[in-house]
Amino acid sequence: MRIRTVIVEDHDDIGRLVADRIAELIRQRNEAGRPTVLGLATGSTPIGVYRELIRRHTEEGLSFARVVTFNLDEYYPMDPKSIHSYHRFMWENLFSAIDIDPANVHIPRGDIPREAIAAEARAYEDAIRAAGGIDIQILGIGKTGHIGFNEPGSGIDSRTRVVTLDLVTRKDAAADFFGEENVPREAITMGIATILEAREILILATGEHKADIVHRAVEGEVDHEVPATFLQRHPNTTFYVDRAAAALLTPVATPWLVDEVQWTDSLAIRAVTWLAHRCGKAVLKLTQRDYAEYRLSSLPAHYGSVGALNGMVFNALGAKIRGRSKLPKGKRIICFSPHPDDDVISMGGILHKLVENGNEIIVAYMTSGNIAVFDHDVRRYVDFLHRMAREGYIAPAPAAGLIAKVTEFLAHKEPGQVDIPEVQDLKRMIRESEAVSGIEVLGLTASAARFLNLPFYRTGTVRKDPIGPADVAIVRALLEQVQPHLIFVAGDLSDPHGTHRMCKEAIDRAIEELYGKSARDENQSSGCPQRPEIWLYRGAWQEWPVTEATWLVPLSQEELRLKIQAIFKHQSQKDTAPFPGQDEREFWQRVEARNKGTAAELDRLGLAEYFAMEAYVVE
Ligand code: F6R
Repeated sequence: MRIRTVIVEDHDDIGRLVADRIAELIRQRNEAGRPTVLGLATGSTPIGVYRELIRRHTEEGLSFARVVTFNLDEYYPMDPKSIHSYHRFMWENLFSAIDIDPANVHIPRGDIPREAIAAEARAYEDAIRAAGGIDIQILGIGKTGHIGFNEPGSGIDSRTRVVTLDLVTRKDAAADFFGEENVPREAITMGIATILEAREILILATGEHKADIVHRAVEGEVDHEVPATFLQRHPNTTFYVDRAAAALLTPVATPWLVDEVQWTDSLAIRAVTWLAHRCGKAVLKLTQRDYAEYRLSSLPAHYGSVGALNGMVFNALGAKIRGRSKLPKGKRIICFSPHPDDDVISMGGILHKLVENGNEIIVAYMTSGNIAVFDHDVRRYVDFLHRMAREGYIAPAPAAGLIAKVTEFLAHKEPGQVDIPEVQDLKRMIRESEAVSGIEVLGLTASAARFLNLPFYRTGTVRKDPIGPADVAIVRALLEQVQPHLIFVAGDLSDPHGTHRMCKEAIDRAIEELYGKSARDENQSSGCPQRPEIWLYRGAWQEWPVTEATWLVPLSQEELRLKIQAIFKHQSQKDTAPFPGQDEREFWQRVEARNKGTAAELDRLGLAEYFAMEAYVVE
């Protein structure tokens, strides 16, 4: 690894660790009566750091009165009052909650005429120098490898300037701007040289969607096509990553390549499947020579022989396969679905099997998913209402008022403007009725659907509130009422807006409140209410690798077809989903590829040949 890297278990640990370092410096400087100069970033990653700094200010009295800040960048053009402005972001997420002197805050301005940019940019560099240079610079990393908005191609000598945003960056920002066409094409950013002059750099990344670029930045050659690699030339940079973002780093992905390892069965299974891929062979066909060639001879030695090792791995993989006869029967089950459609996308196959096995199933939709409904869909339903009223099927009076209000609002809506409550409600109801028709395809009825509509999500914008007691209480009440034997939870870590992660947090907290911290078995013997078993599924973006999955659930061609049919019922997300991420394929296409892909993977490893498969991890 070419940049010092700290891998933490949990996303929230990064906020605490980075805030620790910043707070320590501020305290030292405050005691010495000297200023602290911070370089700050926006985006989703540093929000946890800002939350921690605010906490230290309010609870521990950390003073920011002597702190001077310089932000990395701002879109161009951009009104500082716009919801998309980094000025507004910084005030909302940090500055308004601490005692910083507004005169000490510096953020590039996006509202100046083009001819003034060059002079402003020089003045920005001068101001950094006049402040004594940046002590600690916080950075995020974009999928392109950008730091600040220094996109691929940026030179190591670049300074503060206007830049054209990469298409990938604009796609990533599309959700915040309610459409790629609304994302500005340019930005003003500190240059690479400006950033590298900071005395200390803390770069942060979380989530599986960052795993590729973290790997490239930390282990790849320095390359101006990946600007973050320039950090390898900086003497004091630390990369803070969570497990998900670190997944492809060599010490995490293939630790046996970098060091002596203590072989455990689970590590052996990973190493043998890795070797099988490398050699293009089935597990049972790997030979002593294959192990020797990849410097893995210690592994068969640990298991006594190649045959014993290969057999252990083959059997362990085979034991993960659970057809219908090995799945629960007659149990109470809750499937927690962060948005309406995660249920069918991620676990449509097993849901159908569980229905057939006579389980009592509740599908609990945690958020309404209403921000992901296009306005044109609302117009269509309003037109339908209008027709019903005109033909006398519903009373014209209340319908007419709603129709007029919604039509008028949508006619003048600005891109990204928060919807009026009536439109938010209509969008919620559109998704609710889609969810019901989705589960009906799988054999459930409308009474199986619960719409929790958790408060943290009800901001009307892409940005969400943190999980609070009200969210936890709603989840807890459902658990108390149903007393499930088994619950399904979205365990993926990289949905673009973090909603899946937040939903999991609400469930984890409710479970802890109800059953305590202890493991399932301890609970049962201590007479506490029975803690449900938890099966984690992945959302629309990734799948569990077969080595990590606890259970692999085979699907026939007919079952996969049924699952896709259920996904089709989510019409507001079909054809073009408002938040598709970088993947151009529709959700059902990703599901088909991913479920068939898992089955093909087992086939390649020399196990039975199934049509498709879903994967689950038991927590
Ligand atoms: C933000 C910035 C960008 C972001 C990067 C990652 O001021 O300069 O480089 O840090 O795009 O964004 P998130 O954290 O939203 O993934």
